[in-house]
Amino acid sequence: MKDSFKTFLKHTAKDFYNQSVNPPVVRASTIIFKSMQHIRKTQAKAKKNPTGRNFDYGRQGTSTTHILQKILTKLEGSYHVFTTPTGFGSVFLAIFSVVRPGDEIIAADPVYSPTRILTENFLKEFNIKTIFYDPNDLKTLSTSITKKTKLIFVENPGSNTFDFQDLGKIISIAKKNNILTVMDNTWGTPYYLKPIKLGFDMAIVSATKYYSGHSDVMGGSLAVNKKVFSRVKAAEKITGLRLGPDDAYLITRGLRTLDVRLDRHRENAKKVASFLSKNKKIKLLYPFKKNSLNYRMWKKYYSGASGLMGLKIKSKKINSVKKFVNSLKLFGYGYSWGGFESLVLHQEYRETGNRKYMKLARDEHLVRLHIGLEDPKDLISDIKQALKHLK
Ligand SMILES: Cc1ncc(COP(=O)(O)O)c(C=O)c1O
Repeated sequence: MKDSFKTFLKHTAKDFYNQSVNPPVVRASTIIFKSMQHIRKTQAKAKKNPTGRNFDYGRQGTSTTHILQKILTKLEGSYHVFTTPTGFGSVFLAIFSVVRPGDEIIAADPVYSPTRILTENFLKEFNIKTIFYDPNDLKTLSTSITKKTKLIFVENPGSNTFDFQDLGKIISIAKKNNILTVMDNTWGTPYYLKPIKLGFDMAIVSATKYYSGHSDVMGGSLAVNKKVFSRVKAAEKITGLRLGPDDAYLITRGLRTLDVRLDRHRENAKKVASFLSKNKKIKLLYPFKKNSLNYRMWKKYYSGASGLMGLKIKSKKINSVKKFVNSLKLFGYGYSWGGFESLVLHQEYRETGNRKYMKLARDEHLVRLHIGLEDPKDLISDIKQALKHLK
């Protein structure tokens, strides 16, 4: 009998260590060998099996990071998963592995704003140009392809505006033109969508968010297929971008309840979305309204939705929007998301990045809500009282 992934998540430590339910945290810089021959033998094994657990130095990880990588490889259905000290480390590693001076990148217009800064500004200094495409009009992607294009960087859904793209179409355009693809899948995680299985070459998840789930650790994962594995492995080695064992342990612990938490985030978000959808001042940026393009694109590729949503609020009175945000009692004001708790963030215009295709009028405001694991009735009544300030 083949266990489901939900069962695997609960029992996985037993696969490695029979005597305790959880694996030990193995911290090491030096790894001790019985003899000169032993270290050479281990290195020869590592060459033959580069995804195995044949370490000769702590920078390559320890059994604790290896366990996390094994679990994530199974979750992603990928050839291998690299783990990095932050989610942004995985963004950098993906690009650094496959793009060189003189190359071009095509990226989705609504990528996470630090990803925008990296691709649009920082990489320019290394003679790498990035062109941005409209997530709602993939013709702008096709027409941006040149002989120099090496990578298409997708983030789905788009940061803050939650645009859902036709992922299958992007993959087929890339394959036809022999261009590599990477997708930032932090919003859905491979629990709801497996980009590598869909045909992407690489997939990023910020483990800081739903994987850890408790807002107490940072990390990232970069899943790869066989085609790009050696290039990413070489780049990982040269940059030293590897997750430490204590953080790997906490992320492994979080993963045991990933399915339970995400199922609840989805249920709670659906209830909040249903309430918000009745408000005329608010356009919900979440796959909720059937038959909208976003809903159809979400439905086509995802098996569920997480707890992060956007609200496009129409109001000429910016102070009333601020008052609405500041009056929420159960939604903490702060960056990040994916933890057990609800959060809110007002997106200042400048914080949405230098976007080319975003249509936001001066009387429209973006507010992001992360719907946590609290009782949804309490969340709705909190939003209800805060909405009284919105004019
Ligand atoms: C979509 C997305 N990708 C990547 C990151 C970066 O992850 P980290 O904060 O773990 O570096 C974030 C962080 O907010 C994010 O929202």
